[in-house]
Amino acid sequence: MARNIQRILITGALGQIGSELTVELRKRYGSDNVIASDIRSDENSTVVNGGPWSILDVTDIEAVSTLVRSQKIDTIFHMAAILSATGEKNPMLCWNVNMDGTLNILETAREESLVRVIIPSSIAAFGPETPRDNTPQKTILRPKTIYGVTKVSGELLCDYYVQRFGVDVRGLRYPGIISSETPPGGGTTDYAVEIYYKAIEEGRYTCFVRRNTMLPMMYMPDCIKATLDLADADFDNLSHHSDFNVGALSVTAGDIAESISKFIPGFEVTYEPDFRQQIADTWPSSIDDSLARKEWGWEPDWDLDSMTADMLEKLKQKL
Ligand code: NAD
Ligand code: SER
Repeated sequence: MARNIQRILITGALGQIGSELTVELRKRYGSDNVIASDIRSDENSTVVNGGPWSILDVTDIEAVSTLVRSQKIDTIFHMAAILSATGEKNPMLCWNVNMDGTLNILETAREESLVRVIIPSSIAAFGPETPRDNTPQKTILRPKTIYGVTKVSGELLCDYYVQRFGVDVRGLRYPGIISSETPPGGGTTDYAVEIYYKAIEEGRYTCFVRRNTMLPMMYMPDCIKATLDLADADFDNLSHHSDFNVGALSVTAGDIAESISKFIPGFEVTYEPDFRQQIADTWPSSIDDSLARKEWGWEPDWDLDSMTADMLEKLKQKL
């Protein structure tokens, strides 16, 4: 019989996604049952102050398994990672954190017979040979960034642990995530968040990709919903494990600027592409997520303008 999730560890909990996931998991499972961790601390964060907290370097397998045992963890949401732009600046760090970290989580899950592990993948798993429009679930995976290489390798490793050891591992290929709570941590899609901060703070933004750069994006409430819906899905209904495509918005940088202009008239954007343009050019413009819709009922709630209204409202209060 399937065992229930009761005691959760989140790695990378101070990051863009981990910080909001921690809050939602603590609401659902009780604060005392959700242990947040990261390699660094932030004494002002609700993640650190709102429940159990631990410093944890996921590249240290002894530290991972000791924490899992001592806290009687049965489920891990593994959010610790180095993202695409930081990865290109430091490929070895990206490889070590993303690969050793993922292997250590999977190995601990196997040894401790955990109930479930959630390990995200990314649209960075795709590359320039992949069809860009409505990118299929099963397609060519030849990424050109070290981050993308770790995401494809991570998917393969997760699937290996499912079929070889029977570990219940699940993962989604997140698009670029847009959110107001915690700034993004060094990715190519960071412009889609920065633009909202700058719209409020300065009324202008210099964007590091071209106006017509179209990438798949998703608002954080949809990201949290997708993550938890997949985590709750019946394992027997899943034909895939580590690599579900999930789509929400397919928008250009110019579309986001126009949407903001509806709420902040006169908002000015200039475009000065840097090295991240080359990364963006290798990623899809839209995603075929029909398998996620069929197998675990995925459906996004937010469109561009409703997201923009909510982002600007939240950021006005915060800034
Ligand atoms: P983030 O960069 O905001 O946060 C990652 C966290 O990991 C940081 O708080 C960092 O301190 C921590 N970390 C780094 N090295 C560590 C180590 N050795 N041990 C423990 N913690 C460490 O990332 P995010 O945006 O929250 O991403 C979470 C997951 O989602 C990652 O797997 C990422 O690849 C994936 N993802 C994110 C996006 C996005 O747009 N945010 C898109 C696709 C996939
Ligand atoms: N948002 C992430 C990045 O740009 C995609 O995985 O790196």
